[in-house]
Amino acid sequence: MPFSLLRGLALSLALVSLAHGAGTDSPAGGFPPPGVDERADALLKRMTLEEKVGQLVQFSNGKATGPENVAVDQNELLARGGIGSIFNAIGAKTVNAMQRIAVEKSRLGIPLLMGLDVIHGYRTTFPIPLGLAASWDPKLVERTARVAAIEASAEGIRWTFAPMVDIARDPRWGRIMEGNGEDPYLGAIYAGAYVRGFQGSDLRDPASILACAKHYVGYGGAEAGRDYNSVDISERMLRDVYLPPFEGAKNADVATFMSAFNTLSGVPASANHFTLTTVLRGEWGFRGFVVSDWTSIAELIPHGIALDGRTAAFKAFAAGVDMDMQANLYATHLVGLVREGRLEERAIDDSVRSVLRTKYALGLFENPYCDESLAEKVLLSKEHVALAREAAEASFVLLQNGGPGGPPVLPLGADKAVALIGPLADAADDMLGEWACQGNKNDVVTLRAALSERLGSKLLYAKGTEIVGGVKDFEEALAAARQADVVVMAVGEHRHMSGEAASRSSIDLPGNQRALIEAVKAAGKPVVLVVFSGRPLALSWEAANVSAILQAWHPGVQAGPALARVLLGDVPPAGKLTVTFPRSLGQVPIYYNHFKTGRPIGGEDDGGKDSGARFQSRYIDEKNSPLFPFGWGLTYTTFEYSPTTLSRDRISLADLNAGKTITVEATLTNTGPQECAEIAQLYIRLRGTSVARPVRELKGFEKITLRPGESRRVRFAIGKEQCEFWNIDMKHVAEPAALTVWIAPHSAGGTPADGMIDP
Ligand code: NOJ
Repeated sequence: MPFSLLRGLALSLALVSLAHGAGTDSPAGGFPPPGVDERADALLKRMTLEEKVGQLVQFSNGKATGPENVAVDQNELLARGGIGSIFNAIGAKTVNAMQRIAVEKSRLGIPLLMGLDVIHGYRTTFPIPLGLAASWDPKLVERTARVAAIEASAEGIRWTFAPMVDIARDPRWGRIMEGNGEDPYLGAIYAGAYVRGFQGSDLRDPASILACAKHYVGYGGAEAGRDYNSVDISERMLRDVYLPPFEGAKNADVATFMSAFNTLSGVPASANHFTLTTVLRGEWGFRGFVVSDWTSIAELIPHGIALDGRTAAFKAFAAGVDMDMQANLYATHLVGLVREGRLEERAIDDSVRSVLRTKYALGLFENPYCDESLAEKVLLSKEHVALAREAAEASFVLLQNGGPGGPPVLPLGADKAVALIGPLADAADDMLGEWACQGNKNDVVTLRAALSERLGSKLLYAKGTEIVGGVKDFEEALAAARQADVVVMAVGEHRHMSGEAASRSSIDLPGNQRALIEAVKAAGKPVVLVVFSGRPLALSWEAANVSAILQAWHPGVQAGPALARVLLGDVPPAGKLTVTFPRSLGQVPIYYNHFKTGRPIGGEDDGGKDSGARFQSRYIDEKNSPLFPFGWGLTYTTFEYSPTTLSRDRISLADLNAGKTITVEATLTNTGPQECAEIAQLYIRLRGTSVARPVRELKGFEKITLRPGESRRVRFAIGKEQCEFWNIDMKHVAEPAALTVWIAPHSAGGTPADGMIDP
């Protein structure tokens, strides 16, 4: 049965108080911290209805990160307690000045929550989140978030609109750069890592900032990869794939959520009682607050579920959105809706209490201002920049080394003459990536600068062409290539080709870059591509025509030094993809954890050339398999995996439910020339279950460093948690099943073992 999201009942008064009546039970974790409830309650008693609604109102001060800024007199509103949060205010002085009006001029002196999109660093810019995810290192990601919080809070920001934990399976969608990729298990782990990093161990620490899990929910499923587009997914898919990262954030005590722009199975996410209240508050017990996305409440009108702003405000609030970002509809209508008896004041109280709780939790009442001399000491500190380099090195994914059919060309070693060619070799600004917050191109060390420092006169450089457009006469580039031993080509997308409102209908290398590669090849030198992009690009032609491909994403301020170290062999690459790289756009959406069809390919995946292959689920002109699967990544050594083994090949469902586990093992051996790290991955498949399950599901991973010739037994436990899914009755349970398990280098590798979960 399709699930009905916003129930008719949601429009009744009874439900409106329920929606916000998440109760006063103790939370499972550390948010809200002890004591804040009482203080929030005491303050609430002193507030007028207008002051209460004011706490649910948020405006941008400064740069617009949405279509238009509403014209309100913010200072006047602040002085009468009409705004609870300001975002996009930059710099300690500006932030303190606004705070001063709220604290010193308003009747109750309630401090403001100052918010900002601090996504992958504040001033010290780290790799884009999709790149950071390729490290498969949640601890590292947590450390980058911590540094971002330390820097942002030094300028008075105490709330970031991050992490973005939307699952994305379509590289056309520009915001794929902002998340952790396509896997729900990994997504949940990274969600927790970001939350811990931003919020720290104690929110009262002035260097802690509130995190915000966004965009709740389904936003990454935008049809055709076009930003803001509709999303229609089953409840099972929602629960199995799209919700787990949000639940991961909740389990790490995230203080806030942001409701998304999209419709979800017909019901806009910002008026979705099922997701915002039934699941978030009801099932998960979330006790923080939900902010809308930028004017997403007003967008209920174009979505067609409200004819006017008043109804839009009512529907969003009734569904469970506590704070209105930028639409000015709560400020305009909530008081009236209460006075007319359409909303209970009790429901308003619940939302306001949630907002006040966070302000008390942050210690804002005691300490509303930031120290205006702090930023100077903290931003871009030596340690922060060192972490930016470490994170960039961990984010690179070596997609190919020695193709097609040739010997490995990486690492380059320091004795070669290198021709560095391409529009991204010296593109400081583009290294920052989209959503670079206070990132500044003057802080960036480019690949050209770093290689030139390392190689001196052995480095030749030619830009070749622009990222988009530019010359088609590649003589200068070809001449440089002819003089060199090896060619490194820095190609890809500029930073604004991904991110919000930056969907592409082609995922090829833009402009004349492919033509540039083709021209440079004429020099007959090995070509190494360094690909900078905010999404997987379709690199089939490139893979067939160059020796090596290093996926570098947008690596941040230390792009150049990190790349130079990996290319020259000081550190081996260790990243692996958390998103599938297709052969061509026609395969999209493509992701590893898909279902098996009833007519899978019988023979070879040969792109339709096999004449006996009719009536099978395949293309007549393309393979089904991706170019580079989820989990893929090479390094400067080789690893071998033994076949997977199980400690027992049967387990009863009762034993599984009682906490017993099967131990899964494989031997990993470094069979190559140098010490490197490998990310061993655990996958399962369940068959014979009440609903179809994906061909593989990631259930664990471990980063292991081995010396040449060294072996290690890799071990994972499979228990109830790994085997649970949303079954035919929409219960999250394990079922009797045939179980296949792989310990593998990527989602298309490994030798499996079979077992049974007996009834
Ligand atoms: C719109 C974006 O969708 C969201 O991610 C961001 O946090 C807000 N604008 C605020 O800038």
